[in-house]
Amino acid sequence: MYDRYNRQISYLRVSITDRCNLRCTYCMPTEGVNLMDHGDILSFEEIVEVISEAVSMGITKVRITGGEPLVRKGIISLIEKIAAIPGIIDFGLTTNGILLPEFAGDLAAAGLHRINISLDTLDPEKFRTITRGGDIQKVIEGIAAAKMAGLTPVKINCVVRTSSDEPDAQAVREYCENNGLEVRFIHEMSLADGCFTMVENGHGGDCLNCNRLRITANGMIRPCLFSNIQFSTRELGIRGALEKAISLKPEKGTINLNGGFQNIGG
Ligand code: 5AD
Ligand code: SF4
Repeated sequence: MYDRYNRQISYLRVSITDRCNLRCTYCMPTEGVNLMDHGDILSFEEIVEVISEAVSMGITKVRITGGEPLVRKGIISLIEKIAAIPGIIDFGLTTNGILLPEFAGDLAAAGLHRINISLDTLDPEKFRTITRGGDIQKVIEGIAAAKMAGLTPVKINCVVRTSSDEPDAQAVREYCENNGLEVRFIHEMSLADGCFTMVENGHGGDCLNCNRLRITANGMIRPCLFSNIQFSTRELGIRGALEKAISLKPEKGTINLNGGFQNIGG
């Protein structure tokens, strides 16, 4: 599948819930966010249908995101169903890590290949502040559990305020070096201000080589995180929505005024 700028579209990011068990300050406004109606959230069957159709059109890489994907009830059985779709070469999941001590083993057994975990600081108090109450110990245990389960390479996403030279980021870098983890630094972004940069060490934000499509938990295909356009799988059919999203994928990101990280999945 190629878009009109000759970019090969091979990567689908699938948000399976807009709920989260943390409230990171850069992701959620203090007053909270409007959550989707439960009835609008795609069922497991619908998610599997969308991914299967996308794979038949050339998608080979799938990543599960949220919100926090591990809070979705029945997550292990969903992972099993997706892992059974032939043609997925790379099957990952992005999590805040809080529930990983509980789920890492089962995720690996269900057929997930690998995992990305968010970690912006090593300081328990700062972590609590950034996440509005999260317990960093769970994440550290979750990282160990993921490695033990073979969900490798385990990658760490570290959001930085100004640069990866800042002390919290340096501490995370050192921790990763000492623990066999790959680290990527993501500059704090504002979708509504159209403020984004490339991910250091990763691929995000590189419009010229962007190979991604996203699907929201309520079934909208979004060709670009930094754009308002989206196509409903329910209105256009799955194939119709995928085709439209690919053919109208913007050349580069601009501004997104109708979605946030917690429902598009970063
Ligand atoms: N800017 C940059 N990254 C963000 N994330 C969430 N909100 C933002 C933001 N405003 C990141 C999380 C996670 C990934 C899914 O998205 O830290 O690593
Ligand atoms: Fe939850 Fe991730 Fe948003 Fe933090 S950044 S509130 S962990 S969805």
